[in-house]
Amino acid sequence: MAFCGLLSVCLSLIIIIGGCHGNTIPRITFLLDSPGRAVSIFNPPDVYNTTTLLLSKDEETLFVGARNALLSLSVNEGGGLILNRTLDWSPTVKDLNDCSMKGKEKTDCPNFVRVLQVLNSTHMYACGTFAFSPRCTYISSQQFSLVTGGKPEEGRGRCPYNPYQKNTAITVGGELYTGTVADYRGNRPVISRHLSDGGHVDLKLDDTLGWLDEPTFISSASIPSEEKVYFFFSEMGREYDFIDKFTVSRIAQVCTSDNGGQRTLQRRWTTFTKAQLLCQASGELPYNVLQDMTTLQPAEGAAEDDTLFYGIFSSQWSVNSGRSAVCVFSLRDIKEVFAGNYKSLSRDTLKWTTRVQEKITNPGECGLHNASDNMLRFVKENFLADKSVLPVNQELAMVSPEHHYSNIAAQRVGLKGKEYTVLYLLTETGFLHKAVLLEKGVHIIEEIQVLTRPQLVKNLLLSTSKGVVLVGSSEGVVSVPVSNCSYYSSCAECVLARDPFCGWDPSHKACTDISSIKGNARQDVDEGNVSKACEAPITPRSRSGSGSLKTPATPCPPGELVSVSLNEVVRLQCPAVSHLAQLHWERPNSQISPKIYMQQEDGSLSFLATPSTLGLYLCKAEENGFTQTLITYQVRQKSSPTLQPVTPSRPQVTQSSETGQAFTTKWVTTLRAREETMQPNPNMKEPQPTVSVRETQAVTTSKSSTNFSENKQGRLEVGVAGGEHQLLAKTPSYLQELVVVSVLLALCISALLTIALFSVRQRCRSRTAPHSPGSQRAGGASPQESEALRGNSPSGGKRNGHANNAAKSPNTLSNGSNGHLPNTPI
Ligand SMILES: *[C@@H]1O[C@H](CO)[C@@H](O)[C@H](O)[C@H]1NC(C)=O
Ligand SMILES: *[C@@H]1O[C@H](CO)[C@@H](O)[C@H](O)[C@H]1NC(C)=O
Ligand SMILES: *[C@@H]1O[C@H](CO)[C@@H](O)[C@H](O)[C@H]1NC(C)=O
Ligand SMILES: *[C@@H]1O[C@H](CO)[C@@H](O)[C@H](O)[C@H]1NC(C)=O
Repeated sequence: MAFCGLLSVCLSLIIIIGGCHGNTIPRITFLLDSPGRAVSIFNPPDVYNTTTLLLSKDEETLFVGARNALLSLSVNEGGGLILNRTLDWSPTVKDLNDCSMKGKEKTDCPNFVRVLQVLNSTHMYACGTFAFSPRCTYISSQQFSLVTGGKPEEGRGRCPYNPYQKNTAITVGGELYTGTVADYRGNRPVISRHLSDGGHVDLKLDDTLGWLDEPTFISSASIPSEEKVYFFFSEMGREYDFIDKFTVSRIAQVCTSDNGGQRTLQRRWTTFTKAQLLCQASGELPYNVLQDMTTLQPAEGAAEDDTLFYGIFSSQWSVNSGRSAVCVFSLRDIKEVFAGNYKSLSRDTLKWTTRVQEKITNPGECGLHNASDNMLRFVKENFLADKSVLPVNQELAMVSPEHHYSNIAAQRVGLKGKEYTVLYLLTETGFLHKAVLLEKGVHIIEEIQVLTRPQLVKNLLLSTSKGVVLVGSSEGVVSVPVSNCSYYSSCAECVLARDPFCGWDPSHKACTDISSIKGNARQDVDEGNVSKACEAPITPRSRSGSGSLKTPATPCPPGELVSVSLNEVVRLQCPAVSHLAQLHWERPNSQISPKIYMQQEDGSLSFLATPSTLGLYLCKAEENGFTQTLITYQVRQKSSPTLQPVTPSRPQVTQSSETGQAFTTKWVTTLRAREETMQPNPNMKEPQPTVSVRETQAVTTSKSSTNFSENKQGRLEVGVAGGEHQLLAKTPSYLQELVVVSVLLALCISALLTIALFSVRQRCRSRTAPHSPGSQRAGGASPQESEALRGNSPSGGKRNGHANNAAKSPNTLSNGSNGHLPNTPI
């Protein structure tokens, strides 16, 4: 009895652990060669490092910046990529020799294209690392050819020297805005404007300290109506001077009309300001390291201020390593922060204060290039916004405890007049997650493997008009259609998927692209309620039209035939379709006792063939309140062993129909590969096996079911009282004491488990609380993150001393001199 109580506590513990992360488990996994989700890979033998991607405006052509080459590809419907043209753009042998002479790895010396932009209607512009001596070139768009002649375009300040250094670039009005490092050693970060002509001059950041501090550039965006270019990056947050090496994520802005000051800030930005982007839930450590940022244009008819920026953030602290958060920021909030007050940087101490100073001008306002020296001096000291930009609704859009996301793309998908936001998230391990943001939280519809191994440099691009997601990496360019509705074969599956691209077409009895369905499509993205969406009558005359609901018919169908000999171990596979479904087995008029049956992690059922275990078996899946029978087996004794020679086959042979077999095999490999490529998923574990494994071992050794049931009681006693079993048998006088001790022991363990349970619940609630380091994936940290954790400064350490404090103990955060948490600006 006590054992039972203990067991149930254990079970609820496991269920709670599973429950709290439940919504960030992808519902379905498709491996690279999975037929249900075909991906096209473009990787010709002589093309390498196809990492930089650019779509033409009509999305018909994909331009790719590769190693020593620029490519132009046609994008077909369905995502097929066809090579149009390749441009060779290689350094000379002398360039390469110089590069190796400087001590650079030979493999890093080729020309890696890092900037690829459309400049105007006739020309494109590209920059590459060019043997650690960056160069740029014009490309004629019409013929897709390099524009030769004239001296080579200097790439300094436009493109990094090191191909592994992150950078960003965007063209607006024929001018190139870049964020990159402008020197060989990678110590001089700069945000600058190039290719300016007419009345415009090229601009860059003032060299004085404090404008940027060891930044990692992530992305940039242009908002034409605001006449502004925004830069997204992370850097050292020196305003938090009580904690060393604290990374903060930033948005910076410049005005496209900026033309530099007349005396002060000549050929320098006069409109550069920056603000912190805070991705943090109240009472938790912030997700402070920006990984990627994408812009989602406002819905049709909505105000430009409703432009949203979706960012992936990770944490600098090891307690949150391997986790990612998605935060959404609105242009409206960003503008408000930039229009507010600014912190002041003391040039002598290089310390930030909110000291109330006479406000001479509004930093960040466009048109300051004509301002007086006095005003521009004010701008030079007041360029960090006092307030941080908080996420929309002041909450995280999504937290993934087990996936380290590196790239993001976002899309609005309209359905029945309702609009959903679909996110595409690329994991460090090379899986693409497709997620839909719902009121009740995120739902990950599927994960699709797009890369075979982790990649240092990769890019994600979405073509909404072609309906494909493009991933550029050193493995090639992979294109994946945004959905494959026909994978879902029943209305129930179609609805459970909750894919806003798909709906069940009752007239064709198929799950198809929702935009192509005439009439009333069946779908319920918000709830995934199968009975509501699928059972409602379509026409008054027939109810059977909606009959794709796989509710088990009462007189059971014969099912797949499995012929066995007695005392053979039978293993029945269940073709599970969803990671979110709970699988269980049923027998009509009989119980599936865990003493006789063992249900494995993959949902399969193993048992010993005896006269009493022959018969009908149903594997059922329960998901989102809906139960369906996935497969039915008829287990029979082999009719005549003499006539039917028994092949010495593996004991767990499952004789199922071709389709069932294919499905099962696929599923099994899916799970296996998943375990190999990703960290083991605790949620996939069914609680039963730990208990029943022991019992089944007993089955196999005892060989007969009669022995087995005789053993049963003895084993249970051993289970509770261990070695005292013999004592018990010999001297019954100890029985009372033993019972008391056992009960006390059980109570103690129950109490302990309850405490554990409680703390697990706590952990579920505070999602950023420490979790076991053993469960973290090694090497998941980004180079920058590890840099931050190591605490050494690549720029030679402008500050020294208290390094590593931040990394070692997050608690030091709150012990700051003025007692502020990192989220409360000084
Ligand atoms: C979609 O799924 C169906 C059913 O599994 C499969 O036959 C088809 O090839 C898939 N299509 C794509 C483009 O992946
Ligand atoms: C280029 O590709 C190779 C593999 O083909 C990879 O090892 C290397 O890291 C890549 N280099 C860059 C700069 O992406
Ligand atoms: C586009 O830019 C190139 C290079 O600056 C220039 O030669 C060309 O005239 C421009 N084309 C148009 C249509 O402005
Ligand atoms: C800026 O100053 C220049 C010369 O001082 C003048 O020609 C121009 O009109 C001014 N622009 C604005 C926007 O005030």
